[in-house]
Amino acid sequence: MTVRSKIILDCDPGHDDAVAILMAAVHPSLELAAITVSAGNQTLEKTARNALNVASASGRCANVPVAAGMSRPIVREQVTAGEIHGASGLDGPVFGPPEISLDPRHGVDLIIELLMASDGDITLVPTGPLTNVAAALRREPRIAPKIERVVLMGGTYQLGNVTPSAEFNIYADPEAAHIVFTCGRPIVMMGLDVTRKVRASADVIARVRSLGSSQAALFSEMMEFFAGTQKELYGWDSPPLHDPVTVAWLIDPGCVTLKEMKVEIELKSELCYGRTSCDFFGHCKGGRLTFDTSGALARPAGPNAQVAVDIDADRFWDILYDTFALYTK
Ligand code: BDR
Ligand code: CA
Repeated sequence: MTVRSKIILDCDPGHDDAVAILMAAVHPSLELAAITVSAGNQTLEKTARNALNVASASGRCANVPVAAGMSRPIVREQVTAGEIHGASGLDGPVFGPPEISLDPRHGVDLIIELLMASDGDITLVPTGPLTNVAAALRREPRIAPKIERVVLMGGTYQLGNVTPSAEFNIYADPEAAHIVFTCGRPIVMMGLDVTRKVRASADVIARVRSLGSSQAALFSEMMEFFAGTQKELYGWDSPPLHDPVTVAWLIDPGCVTLKEMKVEIELKSELCYGRTSCDFFGHCKGGRLTFDTSGALARPAGPNAQVAVDIDADRFWDILYDTFALYTK
């Protein structure tokens, strides 16, 4: 019997978030308990609208609450990524009016409500800034032991994409990331180190489009726009598809290689603000994992995350293709 992972997808759509939503909505090994949305790639108003559009387009989210959460980072001023995702946050495809409306609950309240009512079997899957998860942890600390694990897209132990040091999701709310990385729950970090290795080439896009469903068409329309901005900004011939790595790993953990590390978030440096400092070589090893949860300077004493260090890109694309093949209309 296949065990289904129950997940809350916390996102800021975003082209790659949208692909993550489409995969999570349809795959039978995942139970999508909710989609919560934060500001990130664009303002909350826009990312929430995009989430509704994509959830509606999936045709699989009629019973999945979609709730808007935090509109601003915890401490820093807001940054968005319009140069990558366009003015709407999801430029490219044209959507009709969404069939789904926003859940009246605040996204942070919904995360708390679902976790508190759970048996500790919910995996949080953040693919945007960690503002909602951090706010939920601060608002209701009793949720921490209820979180089965956090499987997030964010960070890098190599080069950043928004500064030389930092990756966008962590840079957009480093203080929130600090709260999450010190919450004491298992963390799987899918950083740029692996997500940059999965590039949506013209062949990949054509293969998915050939499936013929409206969701496959949506995938290719989104990727065509995304390819243009990624090429302009970074010079890639094919755009890296960051966020769906989280969902692909939940479907088939064999596609990613993980390494245990101590990960800390840089909060004080001007040059490295928002960097995930990853102890790849284990310099800081030792000690049992202990967290001082009383103050902002809580630091993990030992490894606190499983960090992705490699990905089988062909296997990733097969997972994505097979998942989109589950859409029949
Ligand atoms: C991350 O930043 C966003 O622009 C993407 O949606 C992804 O979550 C990659 O750094
Ligand atoms: Ca994202």
